[in-house]
Amino acid sequence: MNLDNKLENVTIVGAAGKMGSGIAVLIGQEIAKLKIKNPDKTYKLNLIDTNEKALNGLYSYIKSQFVKVAEKSIVGLRFMYKEREDLIENKDIIDAFVEDALGSIRFGSNLEMANNSKLIFEAILENEDIKISLLKKLNQNCSQDAFFFTNTSSIPISFLDEKVGLNGRIIGYHFYNPPVVQKLLEVISGNTTLPEVKDTAKELGERLRKKLLPANDIAGFIGNGYFMRDGLYGIEEVDKLKPSYSTPEAIYMINRITQDFLIRPMGIFQLIDYVGVEVFQWILLVMNKHLKDTTLHNKLIDLMVAKKILGGQNSDGSQKDGFFSYKKNKMIGVYDIEKCEYMPIEEKWKINMDSKLGELPTGFATWKNLLSAEDKDNLLKTYFNNLNSDTTLGAKIAKRYLERSKEIGKELVKSKVALSEEDVNTVLTNGFFWLYGPINNYI
Ligand SMILES: NC(=O)c1ccc[n+]([C@@H]2O[C@H](COP(=O)([O-])OP(=O)(O)OC[C@H]3O[C@@H](n4cnc5c(N)ncnc54)[C@H](O)[C@@H]3O)[C@@H](O)[C@H]2O)c1
Repeated sequence: MNLDNKLENVTIVGAAGKMGSGIAVLIGQEIAKLKIKNPDKTYKLNLIDTNEKALNGLYSYIKSQFVKVAEKSIVGLRFMYKEREDLIENKDIIDAFVEDALGSIRFGSNLEMANNSKLIFEAILENEDIKISLLKKLNQNCSQDAFFFTNTSSIPISFLDEKVGLNGRIIGYHFYNPPVVQKLLEVISGNTTLPEVKDTAKELGERLRKKLLPANDIAGFIGNGYFMRDGLYGIEEVDKLKPSYSTPEAIYMINRITQDFLIRPMGIFQLIDYVGVEVFQWILLVMNKHLKDTTLHNKLIDLMVAKKILGGQNSDGSQKDGFFSYKKNKMIGVYDIEKCEYMPIEEKWKINMDSKLGELPTGFATWKNLLSAEDKDNLLKTYFNNLNSDTTLGAKIAKRYLERSKEIGKELVKSKVALSEEDVNTVLTNGFFWLYGPINNYI
């Protein structure tokens, strides 16, 4: 059965979530294109989620995304709809595409909707037991030639296969957030994954115009194998500052260093908030268990989760409070774990904290400005040279961070999670929007 046939009936479970909704838009577009080519065939895209309220919001989200897709690809669509003489204006083409795309979609919470699917995407929460139980239920009812693409961020694919009994019909298909925008797709084959599943995953990824990057089947893979350790190191640096600073002060300082001094898109604690403090904890749990590495654990994270300081996003995309509290996505407070409240980030306090870190090294430019700079590599080289010779507190900690980042990256290659140093850098530059990879000559 070729990919076109497999796309005749597809299911996405966890479709109303951050990742599932994006995957739904991507797959929905491909199915709509097939529908235009083969108007007499029936296509089904089943979007399943247990959260019925979120499913209602999903319809409008998907519709608005299809409109955007159609607007962007109007020339191609006009060609695809060349037989349809009734479509004259651009608006007619856009409406026809949205109608075709939505026409194949069924929304619901009943897993039986997936029974005839040939391709099943799983994007529910990162909890091993819940994922296994869901996959088992699906496997009991679905056809025995269905392929399972799991978006797990950390759970080994061979382990899932063994627990569920899919006999190699599963592969790790790790989209990055948001799937519609992010080019990177980490692909993880388990030791049992069938060649035809790998081929389908490759062909589909290419059709979706993603940058496919293989990672070995080791808990956390490359993306979270890196990110978890980077986050834990951030907390380690907070602890080092703690004899002289309060926890909120130290969190603010390390966040500022990891964003500004290291010229990254977000500071490490803002990034953990974005991903979700609880998600961070879940991934640590999985990695800790499968890698038998008890250092992959953190008391502060556990305390925050216990106090329901969870981060993540609201359904309208706004940031929920975590290490920081937010107003219109701007950080306005830092969580004080001892007092269980947010300490407001006031201008005077900020200036004082920044002065402790010292001036940014000469040649500093924000991540946003460097992103579009033609001479980005040289500018970074000069900047990091200056950082290396600076003696401010900010520069000293930033240097330690650069060293640790490189060490984490190299360790991922040594432990065979990544095939090469270049792959590690590719994940960080593409999946995390870094301007440079962690394995570099800046330190
Ligand atoms: N958020 C990210 O940045 C990111 C990036 C890459 C991979 N991932 C992975 O993608 C997966 C989904 O993450 P997310 O951030 O989209 O989570 P999310 O919480 O936004 O979405 C999960 C969705 O699954 C639904 N769900 C939960 N249990 C279900 C069940 N038994 N049946 C049907 N639906 C169910 C929930 O209602 C929710 O809508 C996880 O495995 C995560 O590790 C997340």
